[in-house]
Amino acid sequence: QNTWKLEDHPKLPKGKTIALVVLDGWGENKPDQYNCIHVADTPTMDSLKQGAPEKWRLIRAHGTAVGLPTEDDMGNSEVGHNALGAGRIFAQGSDALILFQENCALWRRIKYISECFKNGTLHLIGLLSDGGVHSRLDQLQLLLKGASEHGAKKIRVHILTDERDVLDGSSVGFVETLENDLAKLREKGIDAQIASGGGRMYVTMDRYEHRLMNHKCDSLVLCKLLGEAPHKFRNAVEAVKKLREHPNANDQYFQPFVVVDENGKAVDPIVDGDAVVTFNFRADRMVMLARALEYHDFDKFDRVPFPKIHYAGMLQYDGELKLPSHYLVSPPEIERTSGEYLVHNGVRTFACSETVKFGHVTFFWNGNRSGYFSPDMEEYVEISSDVGVTFNVQPKMKAVEIAEKARDAILSYKFDQVRVNLQKGDMVGHTGDIQATIVACKAADEAVKMILDAIEQVGGIYVVTADHGNAEDMVKRNKSGQPLYDKSGNLQILTSHTCQPVPIAIGGSGLAPGVRFRKDVPDGGLANVAATVMNLHGFVAPSDYEPTLIEVADN
Ligand code: 3PG
Ligand code: CO
Repeated sequence: QNTWKLEDHPKLPKGKTIALVVLDGWGENKPDQYNCIHVADTPTMDSLKQGAPEKWRLIRAHGTAVGLPTEDDMGNSEVGHNALGAGRIFAQGSDALILFQENCALWRRIKYISECFKNGTLHLIGLLSDGGVHSRLDQLQLLLKGASEHGAKKIRVHILTDERDVLDGSSVGFVETLENDLAKLREKGIDAQIASGGGRMYVTMDRYEHRLMNHKCDSLVLCKLLGEAPHKFRNAVEAVKKLREHPNANDQYFQPFVVVDENGKAVDPIVDGDAVVTFNFRADRMVMLARALEYHDFDKFDRVPFPKIHYAGMLQYDGELKLPSHYLVSPPEIERTSGEYLVHNGVRTFACSETVKFGHVTFFWNGNRSGYFSPDMEEYVEISSDVGVTFNVQPKMKAVEIAEKARDAILSYKFDQVRVNLQKGDMVGHTGDIQATIVACKAADEAVKMILDAIEQVGGIYVVTADHGNAEDMVKRNKSGQPLYDKSGNLQILTSHTCQPVPIAIGGSGLAPGVRFRKDVPDGGLANVAATVMNLHGFVAPSDYEPTLIEVADN
């Protein structure tokens, strides 16, 4: 029995080169001045849209369509690429809250953590916001409640301020909320307080070893261990308020701080015998910290001293590495992804992006699995992202380089699928810099053109889509769609993703005659793309995959 064998598609041929282009943070929205995709010069994407409804349509990229708890949950790259690659919808890590509520045995399961409560401190480290992309405030609150009910006497929270998934400036409110919760615990006799913090992009939440701020990503770990940081404050509310006063301060780039007592001494660094829980559920930006907390032979930066702790993650962040070995909630098991099927069916695959999104088209695409399914059949190329500058300063990022690599891969005839993530709209969108985001969208459009031109040369097929919205709306709006202003009359810039649908376009001279989007999958989402691509490779998708978006009309 060969379970990996896919059936031949009754009508579509094999052997066409397919370019699979994922624009990151590229949603569809009404045209206005805050829709950077609309404002930018994007002739290639505009021309694809002319193919509607047979060759261009919209698909859902947020909420339950990508396994998130509610329709108010915006899409993100992890769940988006999971759905694109896996062809099915899996309940995602942010659903861990539900697991929490249902699973009263949780604290028994993590005895490893609670056995430190008698003599040690419980440290909770993670992103403090309700963005729902990497962590959830309500999950932190449940953790605090659970820990206090299960014997934690001393709790220290180490906070990372967000701004990429929530509004800039919202850190103050989140810290106040947390301080209130901790004050209530103190009333119950539990010594609970915030001990340190910093902006997520400046400290600790680095991903794929990008080390954006010149190796400073380790500084929160260091300041926790040593109780030292460039900024010292008596409490965290004062810290975030003061840090916001710095010129051009943004929540995501705050420098690290520690909370100190009346003698200027850090309230509690991590020491031998303590328990540590990282409460982010999303993997990409936690792997580095998890390694630093778990591995004895970690060498990415100096952790001296490295205390003997009991460490658990909210989830297991890397199933291959089994990292961390202790975790609170099991991650979704995303297996039998389209990448694995295609490799078993002779499809040679090339995947490429730059560092900050490299794991998106590989690790997330493959169901949070690192490495190749078959090194002989696949080639993954990472282009180094710029280091030490924020992406609004260099908004084109590595658009040209990624497109060139994809072009060369297509023209080499060595691959059947050439998959890229073009991340500009998203990474620059997260900075909230509207002008830079417009430049980024134009650059992404040019990159798409280069790839489509190469596909034309080899008589191939293209599939162009996106993982979630971002650049198509850069302001916070009221229910009737009007931009919102803050108390000082400033426009509220939306740095986060959106709940907008994303486009998908198919075409190329290799596309068989009669192939068009079906009309009977009106709610189609990212998870429907995998079956669609399998069809274009000449296969029928497994029966439990979400249905294909295409049909072949008899001409
Ligand atoms: C980030 O990690 O940069 C944001 O929180 C989410 O962005 P992404 O889902 O597009 O990676
Ligand atoms: Co993003």
